[in-house]
Amino acid sequence: MRVFVTGATGFIGSYLVPELLRAGHQVVGLTRSDAGAEALARAGAEVFRGDVNDLDRLRTAAEAADGVIHAAFNHDFTQLKRHSEEDRRVIEALGQALAGSDRPLVVASGTGLARRSNGGAPALETDPHVGSAAVARAATEEAADAVADRGGHVVVMRLSQIHDTRHQGRIAVHIKLAREKGRVAYVGEGRNGLAAAHVTDTVRLFRLALEKGRSGARYNAVAEEGVPLRDICEVIGAGLKLPVESIAPDEAKAYFGFLADLAQTDLSASSASTRKELDWAATGPDLLSDLRDMDYRS
Ligand SMILES: NC(=O)c1ccc[n+]([C@@H]2O[C@H](COP(=O)([O-])OP(=O)(O)OC[C@H]3O[C@@H](n4cnc5c(N)ncnc54)[C@H](OP(=O)(O)O)[C@@H]3O)[C@@H](O)[C@H]2O)c1
Repeated sequence: MRVFVTGATGFIGSYLVPELLRAGHQVVGLTRSDAGAEALARAGAEVFRGDVNDLDRLRTAAEAADGVIHAAFNHDFTQLKRHSEEDRRVIEALGQALAGSDRPLVVASGTGLARRSNGGAPALETDPHVGSAAVARAATEEAADAVADRGGHVVVMRLSQIHDTRHQGRIAVHIKLAREKGRVAYVGEGRNGLAAAHVTDTVRLFRLALEKGRSGARYNAVAEEGVPLRDICEVIGAGLKLPVESIAPDEAKAYFGFLADLAQTDLSASSASTRKELDWAATGPDLLSDLRDMDYRS
């Protein structure tokens, strides 16, 4: 399959491109930069220079592809609403380019966007998403719905905390705060969990979703349903050689700032039906192992 990949130079994309190539696909990777173009060419991908928001150019690349994986996103969270609305337009443009065919469009989303239907139990693939009026990033899934409503073959990949020994998404913020404050804090008993998956397992799941994902499906890229925040903090504390403490909910804002709500939220998610449907099994290192193996000196 000739696969157009946006976000091909990002954390996930840099593992996804070799995964697709190894499986025999041809990859066309989008990037804005010289460094990105060099990395893609080195990996063996065709380079498509451009900005994801140049919708005409984006459609040109998608029209020439047998399938698209959309993993580009601007993670400047001070402008989340703007970038989420841009993402809506990007997904709708990709959907238009693939319209009238069964060529798949796989879109990266997050397990945190699920509106959990089962009380305190982990988020399920069948949970609907929250609305973008409440959570800006839900624009991504609303756009995927719009593509599906027009008959497009769209698959939503809900990602949990994806990790290797160098990247752990929001855990990097916990580490930064701990360094600044001289202690690692969690709220209350710290039993709230973070679903997680190793990046190599995640990109294999993207490939399977591209090759045999059901149109309209949502899949959860989850290897561990919920790693307790307290356990994460204990490992970070050992790595940073800093004390680990429980703080009360009313102290969370002062310690965590913009992360205060998330730091207290349970973000557990299940992948039982994803595993079954796509015959996927996670085999990579777990989150705590990667956190233990991190280099805390920098
Ligand atoms: N990592 C996680 O744990 C996690 C969890 C949940 C959801 N997700 C979602 O998964 C996707 C991939 O995440 P990631 O961690 O790999 O992201 P990342 O490392 O921040 O990479 C972002 C990618 O987006 C591209 N990009 C950003 N703005 C662009 C623009 N205007 N035009 C073209 N390309 C643009 C960048 O390409 P260039 O700079 O080369 O142009 C880069 O390849 C995103 O949708 C993210 O929100 C990730």
